[in-house]
Amino acid sequence: MSHSPAAFPAARLRRTRQSLAVRGLVRENTLCVDDLIWPVFVRDGEGVEEPVESMPGVMRRSVDKIVEAAREAADLGIPAICLFPYTDPALKTEDCAEAWNPDNLSNRATRAIKAAVPEIAVMTDVALDPYNINGHDGFVKDGKILNDETVEALVKQALSQAEAGADIIGPSDMMDGRIGAIREALETSGHADVMILSYAAKYASAFYGPFRDAVGASGALKGDKTTYQMDPGNSDEALRLVGRDLDEGADMVMVKPGMPYLDICRRVKDRFGVPTYAYQVSGEYAMIAGAAQNGWIDGDKAMMESLLCFKRAGCDGILTYFAPAVARKLAKQ
Ligand code: PBG
Repeated sequence: MSHSPAAFPAARLRRTRQSLAVRGLVRENTLCVDDLIWPVFVRDGEGVEEPVESMPGVMRRSVDKIVEAAREAADLGIPAICLFPYTDPALKTEDCAEAWNPDNLSNRATRAIKAAVPEIAVMTDVALDPYNINGHDGFVKDGKILNDETVEALVKQALSQAEAGADIIGPSDMMDGRIGAIREALETSGHADVMILSYAAKYASAFYGPFRDAVGASGALKGDKTTYQMDPGNSDEALRLVGRDLDEGADMVMVKPGMPYLDICRRVKDRFGVPTYAYQVSGEYAMIAGAAQNGWIDGDKAMMESLLCFKRAGCDGILTYFAPAVARKLAKQ
């Protein structure tokens, strides 16, 4: 700050908090519908909307219902939707081949959305966990996660998503070298315009629990993800990861989870000044939605406050399961 505030009573900082109008006038950050990316869960079938028990208000939807949801999201002004498949357990294998099947659930959903709702940006998830019999994001051999072999598979997965029409590829696997490999493959296969939003600073977090239920990965997961996802005690390392992913060709970067890691969002934005996103993950959603359901907090207010705080921390946008509820609320204001 360039100027130190005057002393009381010349300075009464409550003056600018005295009414709704004045508070609006001096507000430094705002949340708007352009800030939202909506993560959704896709399953097979037709006409299916199946509640996710650990995420009150969240559904797994069949492709036809996802298209309806995308239409609704676009009409609300939500700029992007992010697809996560709930894969039939029978399709999970050790070689994860379903991940790059051109007709897998995620790719079918992408094609259907781009055909019916071309104006919404489709983001896809690059990682092997929905397809891996071990529940891990990478190949497992003798209890170890194989980095370079996994990167080769992730490239195939990313290319199949780009072929299906994905606008934004979201590698969430945390293998080393995957951004460079995917960027090069996109460049050399006619997909130079496809964006990469790297899950650059993704922590090994307990807050992903409900998501793993939603995509059916909890049962499969043996062990934890601490050899590839970040240690929650680290902050400088997040900057190294973000810098590296930008050098390798990421267009946008993400910090994940969100609320417990707002300090990381701020450091990333200050250091790099690039499009920066936070993922308000399933466990954060479940805490707010669950407490609200029990009448312990005002769910709407907690939702809006939690998301505004990401803007204050420097984020350009937020992946949030609340996206349609927020958009509806913002439209009314
Ligand atoms: C896995 C993936 C996870 C999430 C997004 N992609 C979970 C994990 O790493 O185990 C979590 C999202 C959430 O919790 O909402 N590739």
